[in-house]
Amino acid sequence: MRAQLEALMAKVLEVELKDADAVEVFRVEWLGRKGRMKDLMAAFKEAPNEQKRELGMLLNQLKQLIEERMEAASSGLQSGIASTGSGEDYSRPAGGIPMGTHHPLSVVRKEIIGIFERLGFTISEGPEIEDDYHVFSGLNFPEEHPARDMQDTFFVDREPDLLLRTHTSSVQVREMEQHDPPMRLIMPGRVFRNEAISARAHCMFHQIEGLYIDEDVSFADLKQTLLLFAQEFFGPDTKIRLRPSYFPFTEPSAEVDVYWGLETEVDKRITKGTGWLEILGCGMVDPNVLEAAGIDSRKYSGFAFGMGVERITMLRYQIGDLRAFFENDARFLDQFRGQH
Ligand code: DAH
Repeated sequence: MRAQLEALMAKVLEVELKDADAVEVFRVEWLGRKGRMKDLMAAFKEAPNEQKRELGMLLNQLKQLIEERMEAASSGLQSGIASTGSGEDYSRPAGGIPMGTHHPLSVVRKEIIGIFERLGFTISEGPEIEDDYHVFSGLNFPEEHPARDMQDTFFVDREPDLLLRTHTSSVQVREMEQHDPPMRLIMPGRVFRNEAISARAHCMFHQIEGLYIDEDVSFADLKQTLLLFAQEFFGPDTKIRLRPSYFPFTEPSAEVDVYWGLETEVDKRITKGTGWLEILGCGMVDPNVLEAAGIDSRKYSGFAFGMGVERITMLRYQIGDLRAFFENDARFLDQFRGQH
């Protein structure tokens, strides 16, 4: 009887219970008034006493197995899961497809561009491999002028006039050459500088350049545009200040700081104890730059600005090391899941 019970257990496990009818037939066959369990109980009573303990346990196991199978089959049927017998369940909801995330630099670039697009700026791009004229001379950098050393340039070996652009300001020059004012442009792109890679510097990074040229564009327009940008991006209570600065292609020139606060030790460290953080350079387009591009500087004026995307992203997400952006470590990138 012991071997018989074991064989029956195997049988119970093999039965297909693919719909409610099959479950009912199974129930009647095993647990019904004239079912197999009944016969087995009768046989059990006849068995020699010394076997009863073992046989009783096996009988219980068999009954439990039958009940488990019925329960599993019914709950599966109720939730709409059909067993196909192949082991695959084609009615199950599809699992999530593992998806990548937006890179934090893309998230921030998109947001910055979006703010300026709402102000009527349109996007424009230019080449990463540029000539000296569009990166320097056309922007009023005199030959041999030390201002060229402000940006350590990668030159193309075989073609000394070609270089990797050190800033997106080169796109301004191309646009001014090709179009007449009024123009309102936002120009994102990759730039390159011959710098040792560290937590604060990289040989490749991203900038977003802005240019607005029309009649009667004033420094007040520049300041108000940048204040609006800062408040849209960092929050409505954000304060900015403009510090006088120097760029060959703008006059006057300024650097813009946002007020970051001095509450924590980190605030003190990253703002060098001032509470202010620089976010961009800007100014009124120098008349020499307009004239070089064929724009009448008596009729038109304009402002320009340029900001570093990495820097602004580090501020937004409190990222301490620039290199994290370029290592593609999934643990870093995964933290930006849901940002877009
Ligand atoms: N091109 C400058 C740089 O890379 C940033 C900049 C400053 C851009 C002033 C501008 C500007 O358009 O007006 O450091």
